Parts: sequence; structure tokens; C-alpha cells
Amino acid sequence: MNEFQISKSNYSNCRIIDVDLTNSTLADDEVLVKVDKFALTANNITYAVVGEQIGYWQFFPPHASAGQTSDDIAGWGILPVWGFADVIESNNAEVPVGERLFGYFPPASHLLMKPTKVSPTAWIDGSSHRAALPVGYNIYRKVESAATSEKAFEDDRMLLYPLHLTSFALYDFFKSNDWFGATQVVMLSASSKTSTGLAYGISNDSSAPSQVALTSTRNKEMVKGLGAYDRTLSYDQISEIDASKPTLIVDMSGNGSVLNDLHRHLGDNMRFCSNVGVTHWKETNSGPDFIKDRSEFFFAPSQLQKRIKEWGMQGFEEKSGEYLKYSFEKSREWLKMTDIDGLQGMSDIFEDVCEGKIAPESGLIIRMP
Ligand SMILES: NC(=O)c1ccc[n+]([C@@H]2O[C@H](COP(=O)([O-])OP(=O)(O)OC[C@H]3O[C@@H](n4cnc5c(N)ncnc54)[C@H](OP(=O)(O)O)[C@@H]3O)[C@@H](O)[C@H]2O)c1
Repeated sequence: MNEFQISKSNYSNCRIIDVDLTNSTLADDEVLVKVDKFALTANNITYAVVGEQIGYWQFFPPHASAGQTSDDIAGWGILPVWGFADVIESNNAEVPVGERLFGYFPPASHLLMKPTKVSPTAWIDGSSHRAALPVGYNIYRKVESAATSEKAFEDDRMLLYPLHLTSFALYDFFKSNDWFGATQVVMLSASSKTSTGLAYGISNDSSAPSQVALTSTRNKEMVKGLGAYDRTLSYDQISEIDASKPTLIVDMSGNGSVLNDLHRHLGDNMRFCSNVGVTHWKETNSGPDFIKDRSEFFFAPSQLQKRIKEWGMQGFEEKSGEYLKYSFEKSREWLKMTDIDGLQGMSDIFEDVCEGKIAPESGLIIRMP
């Protein structure tokens, strides 16, 4: 088996490690899955950026290859990715060989897992090192139990589902808080898929506030072309935003100086700032005008868990399903899937992903041999 590891202190420094599994046998209830394909976006880089705070490094501890010691893997970690895998060996009576799964995997050829709470549609990886991590990341959905027509949308699903489910969680959170009194929403890193998923939901709701997109100069035309935002500005055009309107900021960028300038420009009309992402992960130092007491970190898994509890799984799936159907349909109008050949292909483009050099309309899909 092989796996893709990155240096925790320099993300674009990556390596592919060969791990010898030939002498290992499955423990009781364990299964071995072969990873088939997965998506790669800025979200995965954010898993590294906040890896220590939120525990993302703990999902898939790195292995040492033959001849390596634990010292050789110190400082290295594995980025979780969303994708599909197939069970190829099973020591678990409830999980047969051939079962196909959608969920959180390492960028690796294989993964040892311990299915628990097996239901007709899903199960949870009960591996002890994952027990304390947010449950939403430990659920694996059986793919054959989904409608056959859904199989054709596997690429959309692994690329967009985790991001647009966050967009749905944001939409629901803002709407249930009356948009924090705002009449305009300003979205940062507006070209990201999480932002566009939210922009489609907002533009589809006639009672929602108007939307201003903030993006890099190079991505302005693409964002304009989406037709989802009412106005599109670049980061150096903050002064053109109407500061007389009560405003909700949705920040996917984490860019400290942009946030500082935007908070200063809006002053009292900065009603709420939702800190969602850190796509600009090298520029996070905020300045003196950042309004901390009206800013809040948003963690989608917590909001989603809360709603599943309140609405029940069926109610949740109905509401989120309707939202995602529309945001997926709109995204298909411009999204271009780009196939990447295995872990070596991922290694070749990984620095560009870290540096934000991938065109926003591109959807990177790593296909494993
Ligand atoms: N809090 C949560 O629960 C949660 C859940 C899901 C996603 N998120 C976060 O939302 C953010 C967006 O994720 P995504 O997967 O949707 O992104 P994506 O589609 O891959 O976004 C690409 C865009 O991000 C910006 N970007 C990416 N890397 C950059 C870099 N190194 N330097 C400068 N700009 C860069 C650029 O946008 P601009 O030019 O428009 O800035 C680029 O067009 C991530 O930080 C992700 O972790 C948070």
C-alpha cells in the first residue's frame, strides 16, 4: 500500500510512502478498503492549517515504510479527503467484500477500518483513535443503497457534498438568526465552492439580503459569470461597498488585512462576521480594526449535528437534499472536473493547490490505480 504524507511545518513538502501490509491480518470486526477516488480543494489544505486545533491530523496517523523508525514520521501528517472506497477484505460479518463506501479517507491506496453501528445505509468507523473526533467525519455511507441514478454523480458528490452541506448549514444558521439584521451579505473568497454553494442558496431566496462577492482580481470575471452575486469586487475595492447598509460578512478567506479593512469600512454596520475558512492561510494576521466581539468561528459539523437532532435524520435529509439539488445543478453549469492520476499526480500539483494556483472552476479528482 502507499500513502501521501505532508510535512506539518511546510505543507507543500510532500512524499509518497510505501507501507508493507503483506504480513498484517485483520483483527476481529476489521475490514480493509481500497480507495478508488477522491476530491481535492482548498478545504483539504485548511484541514492542515487547523489540524492541531481541531484534530484533523488524528484521523489517519502516518505509517512508516520498511526500514523507517518513528523518528522518520515525526512532523509528518495525512490530510483527510472525501471520496469513495471498496471493501476488499472483511473480518466483519455485517460488512461484505465488495461494499462501496462514501466518506472520509486518507489519500492512500488502502485503509484498515473497524465498522460499528452498521445500519442498512451506513456505518461508523469505531477505530479507537477516531472515537473523540466529530462523529460526522466517522460516518461511511453505503453507496449501493443509494438510488442507482446517484452513481453517475459520484464525482459531484465527493467534490461538492462536504462543501455545499456547509453552505446549507450557513444558510440555515443565518436565516434562522434573521440574517443578524443585515440587508447585505459580503462573501470573501467568493470564488470558492463553499461560497458559491451559499451564494446560490441566498440568490434563490427572495427574502434574503443582497450579496457582494469579494475575490482576487484574477478570479473576478469567473465570479461575475456565476450570476449568483449582485455585485463582484476585488479585495482592493472594499471602499466601494455600501457602508450604510447593515452587513453580514461570511469569510472563507481568513485574510486578516482584508477583514481589518472591511470591518473598519463598515464600522457599526458590521453586524456579524462568520469566520468559516482560511483559504488565504498565509495571511491570517488580523489588524486593530477587526471587530472581535461580533465575529464568530463557524464549524459546520456542530450546526449539522444540532439540526439532525432537532429535525431527525429524515427531516434533515429532505431539507438539505432540496438545497443541494439546486446548488449542484447550478454548479454543473461551470464546474470542470479535472482528472489527476493517482498519488504521483497529486504530488505533482500539490504545491499549486497549497498556493491557490488552481482555477476556481476546476474540480480536482484524484483517481487511484
Ligand atoms: N468551518 C467549516 O466548517 C468549513 C466547512 C467547509 C469548508 N470550510 C472552508 O471554506 C474554505 C473554502 O473551501 P473550498 O474547498 O470551497 O475552496 P476552493 O473551492 O478550493 O476555493 C478556491 C479559492 O480559494 C482561494 N484560495 C485558495 N487557496 C488560496 C491561497 N493559497 N491563497 C489565496 N487564495 C486562495 C481563491 O479564491 P479567491 O480568489 O476568491 O480568494 C480560490 O479561487 C476553506 O478554508 C474550507 O476549509 C469551512
